[in-house]
Amino acid sequence: MNKIKLLSLGLISLAGNVFAQEKAVPTPHWRPAYHFTPPANWTNDPNGLVFLNGEFNLYYQHNPFENKWGHMSWGHATSKDLIAWKHLPVAIPEVITKDTTTWIYSGSVVLDKSNTSGFGINGKPPLVAIFTADQPKQKKESQFIAYSNDGGLSYKQYSHNPVIDLNMHDFRDPNVFWYQPTQQWIMTVSMVDDHMVRFYGSKNLKDWNKLSDFGPAGFTKNGWECPSLLPLVVDGNPDNIKWVLFVSSGGEHGPLIQYFVGDFDGITFKSVNETNKVLKVDYGDAFYAAIAWRDAPENKKILLGWLQNGRQETYPWKGQMSIPHDLSLKTTGDGLVLNQLPSVFVTRALHKYATGKVIEKTNIDINGAGLKLPGNGNAYWIDAEFDIRNARKAGFNVVGKAGTDKKVTLGYDAEKQLLFVDCTGSEKDNKSPENLIQTAPMKAINGIVKVKVLLDRSSLEVFGNDGEKVISTMIYPDKDATGLALFSEGAAVVKSLKMWNLNRGE
Ligand code: FRU
Repeated sequence: MNKIKLLSLGLISLAGNVFAQEKAVPTPHWRPAYHFTPPANWTNDPNGLVFLNGEFNLYYQHNPFENKWGHMSWGHATSKDLIAWKHLPVAIPEVITKDTTTWIYSGSVVLDKSNTSGFGINGKPPLVAIFTADQPKQKKESQFIAYSNDGGLSYKQYSHNPVIDLNMHDFRDPNVFWYQPTQQWIMTVSMVDDHMVRFYGSKNLKDWNKLSDFGPAGFTKNGWECPSLLPLVVDGNPDNIKWVLFVSSGGEHGPLIQYFVGDFDGITFKSVNETNKVLKVDYGDAFYAAIAWRDAPENKKILLGWLQNGRQETYPWKGQMSIPHDLSLKTTGDGLVLNQLPSVFVTRALHKYATGKVIEKTNIDINGAGLKLPGNGNAYWIDAEFDIRNARKAGFNVVGKAGTDKKVTLGYDAEKQLLFVDCTGSEKDNKSPENLIQTAPMKAINGIVKVKVLLDRSSLEVFGNDGEKVISTMIYPDKDATGLALFSEGAAVVKSLKMWNLNRGE
């Protein structure tokens, strides 16, 4: 938790207490249909994402007892397609003894294929979780490990924990991977208040040596959390790999994940960007603490983030995950930048969950407001391509409420060259004024702009131009605010539109 967040969480939980006692009103109409939420109670960061035996494992920061942050433990779920989740028992619970409370903060899981840790039994490789033990009474964070011999359902704490202890208050979120060239495990971990990522190396996951530090760099106004390092393919060429370092922190107006592109030689990460350059993963006010799956099929690098709720309560759960993003790098006029699309594992499975016919249309002329689309519930996915050569703006009005002006507007502003989500029409109570309109700079390509709209009841994710820019946010429409329409200012043509209705019962 950075301080700003602790403060805001404190306020939120205070409000939450009052809320819980006075009116814990169920909010099923805000429960996403195709994004992960815990069955009940609080979640924040995704943890320990690992693919094993045909299943994506998702661990997550969880309070098993209440609908607010606290009692931090690792919840657990698995999925074959990243849409339908099987909920499993808490995998790593908080540990309470007479003198100490140990909360299980964020971290990662690796499959120790060659049993370097010695935790395997009967020739079966163990899963090893590497995470931060937060001990509030001691005001201390250190790095712990725990291992699983039952495929990730339960973990035993290593008897000689901690494995790294600097006697520090804010030192957290280890993320570990195997680095083939030097045959060792590499950990990135956050020196929160120094705005630095520290790299450690280990042959056995138990004994760690400091390798190097990266930072301060980029955005440094708030504490750094949840670092991770990934090799990504450049321009689709598997022989061209660059490393990307992700870091989460509070931004100017809410959560920010920044990334650095560079080279990693097994010891040091060197960014190719100027020291002060800030590259954003997402331009909305919700996406945070994202990490990627280890060992995902087809060599995909799939990023999953927590979508923060902001001010609104939901019940009986609070917090949800983003749609998983497939990552790559692209060479552009602005240098090497991150490209993100909803994971192909999700898009391949969409047809299984679509109710009714997938709507497909081409060459729809719009000029002004109002071309209605059949939205019968707020869980859908739209892929659209706009010709905006003769338009100032074009896009969608979503979550419209009949007989009122309430709606959220999103699309492309051709004059300002911005992908945008404008929540002014219905989210004034939930967002601070500076977050009502969220934008990302983006250029049309030969007069064409592509937009993907993933609306899932209370989450809204907009992807522009095949993954060049992403805006993720949370919205809280009234139950009956399900209006959906195309709009334009000036004459726009929707070259193609495909829409999947993903509504289903809770
Ligand atoms: C990020 C974070 C992490 C920490 C966890 C605690 O949201 O603050 O730094 O490990 O949440 O829940």
